[in-house]
Amino acid sequence: MRVDELQQWVALLSWLDAAGVDAAVDESARDWTAPAPQPAPAPVPQPALAAPAPRAASAPRAASAPRAAPAARAAPAARAPSSSRPVGTLIGEAAVGDARMLAAAAGSLDELKAALDRFDGCALKATASRLVFADGDPSAPIMAIGEAPGGEEDRTGVPFVGRAGQLFDRMLATIGLDRRHVYITNIVTWRPPGNRKPNAGETAVCLPFCHRHIALKAPRMVLLLGGTAAAALANTTETITRLRGRWLGLDVPGVDQPLPAMAIFHPAYLLRTPAAKRQAWRDLRAIDRRLDELGIERPAVAWKRAPEG
Ligand code: URA
Repeated sequence: MRVDELQQWVALLSWLDAAGVDAAVDESARDWTAPAPQPAPAPVPQPALAAPAPRAASAPRAASAPRAAPAARAAPAARAPSSSRPVGTLIGEAAVGDARMLAAAAGSLDELKAALDRFDGCALKATASRLVFADGDPSAPIMAIGEAPGGEEDRTGVPFVGRAGQLFDRMLATIGLDRRHVYITNIVTWRPPGNRKPNAGETAVCLPFCHRHIALKAPRMVLLLGGTAAAALANTTETITRLRGRWLGLDVPGVDQPLPAMAIFHPAYLLRTPAAKRQAWRDLRAIDRRLDELGIERPAVAWKRAPEG
């Protein structure tokens, strides 16, 4: 390959990468903009062939008379779709049903992880490198739930280890918490290509697993990191700007009592929008107060220690 050709390929790949296209779905390229193939028309019913009239013995067939062409048989029609529903919808509903069944059958966190590993109903599994299940102490009093793994999490299999995760660790430290106190997972457990936001179908199919995760983990408090986790788990269309900072009672199937939960800005958003750290700090202080009320112990933090002397 010539050097200028190579440069063009590198430029194309960098452009795709910058646009978030960083995973191959198929072996060969497919033109998704090409018109969908039309199903073959249904066969037209043919009238029953009339029995040939008995040939008069005395009338020999004229040598020149053309023999009647046999009735053309319709080519077998291509299999028509069995349902008029868009295929994606059917797959989505069936996948959510499967997810519910598999999740409900899991009796422990290990079984839930194994069930997710077996589950093929989320298309993100095809492009992600691995499942990113959870991190932290399963007996920790607090459970934090984010959106979906990013690149670093996909590489390591551990949630919240990239830049956003490091900021989250620093946020926790301001109220005396670390991963011994906080068990961390995501609503969606496979990385969306290019770190895009998971779509509604991907979130819906992972939600039964997340519900079961919460029920098995049985935290005393839940932190919802960002709008995707907050809207899915609080079952609302309210934006994170409206939801954040309020105590919510989270209804989770299999959990008797509504769980105290607070939605806060996602640390990745705070990295992009430092001005919002002010509100995040207010939310952290509200969480700190609630932890005191619940008697959840942690090391004292410097900003709360009385000045000496
Ligand atoms: N963002 C998330 O929501 N989750 C992660 O695990 C990492 C980044």
